[in-house]
Amino acid sequence: MAQLWGGRFTKETDRLVYNFNASVSFDQKFYRQDIEGSKAHVAMLSRQGIINGEEAEEILKGLNGILQDVQSGKLEITDEYEDIHSFVEANLIDRIGDAGKKLHTGRSRNDQVALDMRLYARDEIKETDALLKSLLTTILNIMQEHTQTVMPGFTHLQKAQPITLAHHMGAYFEMFKRDRMRLFDLYERMNYCPLGSGALAGTTYPLDREYTAKQMGFYGPTLNSMDGVSDRDYLIEFLSALATVMMHLSRFSEEVIIWNSNEYQFVEIDDAYSTGSSIMPQKKNPDIAELVRGKTGRVYGALFSLLTTMKGIPLAYNKDMQEDKELTFDAIDTAKGCLALFDGMLSTMKFCKKAMLKSASLGFTNATDAADYLVNHGVPFRDAHGVIGRIVLHCIDRGIALDDMSLEDWKQFSEVFEEDIYDAISMETCINKRLTIGAPGKAAMERVIEEEKQYLDQSSIISSVE
Ligand code: ARG
Repeated sequence: MAQLWGGRFTKETDRLVYNFNASVSFDQKFYRQDIEGSKAHVAMLSRQGIINGEEAEEILKGLNGILQDVQSGKLEITDEYEDIHSFVEANLIDRIGDAGKKLHTGRSRNDQVALDMRLYARDEIKETDALLKSLLTTILNIMQEHTQTVMPGFTHLQKAQPITLAHHMGAYFEMFKRDRMRLFDLYERMNYCPLGSGALAGTTYPLDREYTAKQMGFYGPTLNSMDGVSDRDYLIEFLSALATVMMHLSRFSEEVIIWNSNEYQFVEIDDAYSTGSSIMPQKKNPDIAELVRGKTGRVYGALFSLLTTMKGIPLAYNKDMQEDKELTFDAIDTAKGCLALFDGMLSTMKFCKKAMLKSASLGFTNATDAADYLVNHGVPFRDAHGVIGRIVLHCIDRGIALDDMSLEDWKQFSEVFEEDIYDAISMETCINKRLTIGAPGKAAMERVIEEEKQYLDQSSIISSVE
């Protein structure tokens, strides 16, 4: 048991207590960030004359050595240490002796862990953003290819009006674009450096907090040391953004599952992204989409868990906060994994245009357009709605589509109908007449695609602010 704080104690810590309290099994995940923070701290201590240049050199060399050895696998992070901070400091002292004992001058593990977690979250926000960008690129490719691929649009999972695959995909494009904006917003709020907050009340050493903050790419230091060590809002915001990403992925997954079902057959998931059944030889299951949908609950759970953990904690640091890590790490890894897999599944998925068109053509998705035809010939919309409703009923009785009716049939319901009704209710007209911005009509869709392309051509939003 390698502890940093034995001086005041007369007894060894109980083994069970030690294990219960220790965090090294999971906080080793940010060993790189811990060392990065220590290096910035040491450089600042030396600039401020708090330690001398030689000592700083030795410490920096020692820290770099530890980093290299951990990365190469030569040095193992074991549970002999309480947490990652103790591991690094104890190893440093082992390597370089007395100078290593000066590393922790003017610092507490409270501001150290607050810094490490922020550095870690910051990297992960960028990685999540890059995965979202890649998914958006996949979606935009599908949109570009399918501006004329007709499919039914649904409300209540009942066929409603014809749309295109580009239009349907465009809805998800908007969702994931907003997810990126949420990451950007929270990045802007969280990118301040807590190092130098000390245990809670700052320190009496003349630390240059501006310097360390800038060294590590933060916008500046946090402005209250109590808040600096005990703020976990940014993690709650990150988890909330991830929960929203998962909610979007889960809705999308649900659609893929429905589209891939034997009844719909709108899509075929690539063999590489499907699984079989141990007993039923014919099966090809959409397990990836189902798992993404299932894992959404896990990420929601992390958000609620942290909100609950934080709600009763008085200022400043309390050990409860150690609970922020495992669930945040798990939620980040889960969401990132789901984004990558979903992207792979989507980019290899085949769309069965014929099945989509057939489904859109049957099911009266052009009924609104038939009513609009009457309106365009002077019939008030409410009356037109009634006429077409009766025609639909008539067609259902006879088991035919609107397009299958003869002109005489049409005229039985209203004298207004002429030969051009067939063109007015063709799938192509139904779609391409919808030209308001945001609608599926080809021209409107192409304008949107152009705009989205420009948006994606900008470099990653988050890295562009640095
Ligand atoms: N492992 C701790 C955590 O994750 C580090 C901070 C420890 N500070 C303390 N006063 N015990 O929160």
